[in-house]
Amino acid sequence: MSRNLSALSGRKGLKKNLFEQMAQISVNDGGSPAEAHLAKLADEFLMGDANTYGSITAYDFMKPENRGKEIYVCNGSACLCAGTQDEVQEKILEHFDAAAIGHMTCLGRCHENSAFSYKNQNYSGNSINQLAEIIKKEKHSKNGRYSVSAARPVLTGDFRSFEAFRTLLEKTLARPSAEILGEIRDSEIRGRGGAGFPMHIKWESCRNEISDEKFIICNADEGDPGAFSDRYLLEEQPLMVLFGMMVAGYCTGANWGVIFIRAEYPEAVEIIQQAIHKLHELNLLGDQILNSEFNFNFKVIKAQGAYICGEETALINAIEGQRPEVRTRPPFPAKQGLFLKPTVVNNVETLAAATWIVQHSGKEYAAMGTEKSRGTKLISLDGLFQKPGIVEVEMGTPLGTVIEEYGGGFRKGVKALHIGGPLGGIVPIEKINSLSIDFESFASQGFLLGHASVVCIPEDFPMIKYLEHLFEFAAFESCGKCFPCRLGTKRAHQMLSGAAHEMKAIDRNLFMDLLSTLQQGSLCAHGGGIPLPARNALQYFNDELSLHFS
Ligand SMILES: Cc1cc2nc3c(=O)[nH]c(=O)nc-3n(C[C@H](O)[C@H](O)[C@H](O)COP(=O)(O)O)c2cc1C
Ligand code: SF4
Repeated sequence: MSRNLSALSGRKGLKKNLFEQMAQISVNDGGSPAEAHLAKLADEFLMGDANTYGSITAYDFMKPENRGKEIYVCNGSACLCAGTQDEVQEKILEHFDAAAIGHMTCLGRCHENSAFSYKNQNYSGNSINQLAEIIKKEKHSKNGRYSVSAARPVLTGDFRSFEAFRTLLEKTLARPSAEILGEIRDSEIRGRGGAGFPMHIKWESCRNEISDEKFIICNADEGDPGAFSDRYLLEEQPLMVLFGMMVAGYCTGANWGVIFIRAEYPEAVEIIQQAIHKLHELNLLGDQILNSEFNFNFKVIKAQGAYICGEETALINAIEGQRPEVRTRPPFPAKQGLFLKPTVVNNVETLAAATWIVQHSGKEYAAMGTEKSRGTKLISLDGLFQKPGIVEVEMGTPLGTVIEEYGGGFRKGVKALHIGGPLGGIVPIEKINSLSIDFESFASQGFLLGHASVVCIPEDFPMIKYLEHLFEFAAFESCGKCFPCRLGTKRAHQMLSGAAHEMKAIDRNLFMDLLSTLQQGSLCAHGGGIPLPARNALQYFNDELSLHFS
């Protein structure tokens, strides 16, 4: 991160945003900005073209080598385990040159698989068999069907009318902001983006900063392959998410809500934009909302394809138009975030939950769940479940209940569950009954709840290939800022790839040493977290893996 570049980008701020400008010229120039256009932009922002070039080369949808891609195949973990993507690729090759086919990880269609993206629309399930009609525009994108079930609907409840939005906003603005913040404190909610950090501490810290400008950022860059619960909220509960952001603004004194949505979710971008447009029409945004002293506006930023932008400081760099590299902390974003101003970054689900907390009460929320993990949690079940989809359960619900009652069990033999995204743990099937859905249960057993996405690893899927896939992903998505991760993820991928395809034995001591270096030496949880699933796999699937290790 460069403070200088942050300040330069901040001169034009959100109104003429550098990142958006780069994305726009990328579209105009056929998928990657032409050098001359990029140089002109760098001049305008006084940045120097090395900076703008450095930025665009970090994104799948702006880097020069991806210019001319017309169609993208999902290569996320759930589609990989479902074994659907070779056929998808073959069928696409009947219509497109190999050079026109790109890859995206992941499209969030993990419940249906066979996922691909064409002309900014996502498809899954049986759609690949209708590709000719889709190309001729005779068929349109279908939002792949998934079931939504909940024992106690909080995030899956009904907050869909603009009337309900207005009523709750009136009630909220009639109460002092400190009192509303008190509800968040009483709820004891912890962030749902992975780290489980208490929400009220972040908000209080930002509130206590004195600044002419503050920001709320909704982290809607849900990049974990296997996760689609944020997509559910963005597409089906947009008002719940937007209201949560406004509450955050009211409590902290921020007047801007930036919602950074991954480009792989084009439908979500559109739905959120439409909801914001309608809120403007109803005078529920802008200055002195409902005759109060509260001013708030939204800015939607469409991401450009880089997993690391899910990490909050890389995300801030991205919005500033800098290369999305992780920042060292302190200072934390709540003190110095976007354009060096106090900024709250929260996950989509955390913000949506804030709406329910304000609508009901902090105490009512805290009455759900366990002592340390309050409230409810959304879980994404992939296509190998009998009933794939979104499940909402109270924290503390046994994992076995989620799998059997809500998921209906598996469609085929499964040996392990990869829970919590690529940095989450690999849970062998025999451990299911010892886990419940809460932060502590997973941590105490050597796993990670993370975002609570569940990817099934079938019995016939070689574990060595699964690890190879994970480290390929980790190496590709490393921001490159620190060398343990930049080099270590690549080296681990080489070792696993050699073992999986050329029967080259991996030196176990060397590999374990590499995992320790990644874990201890990495700057952020990307490099620091990727050893966890590898260690789980080596512990629980040693019989299967030992033939690849010396
Ligand atoms: C590699 C990496 C990827 C991440 N991806 C996401 C993500 O997709 N969505 C998210 O909300 N948080 C993600 N996080 C966590 C964020 O850095 C941050 O902790 C979170 O957005 C804070 O929100 P919360 O307090 O509501 O959980 C990621 C972290 C790392 C290290
Ligand atoms: S651990 Fe990886 S992703 Fe995180 S800062 Fe280091 S290089 Fe970047």
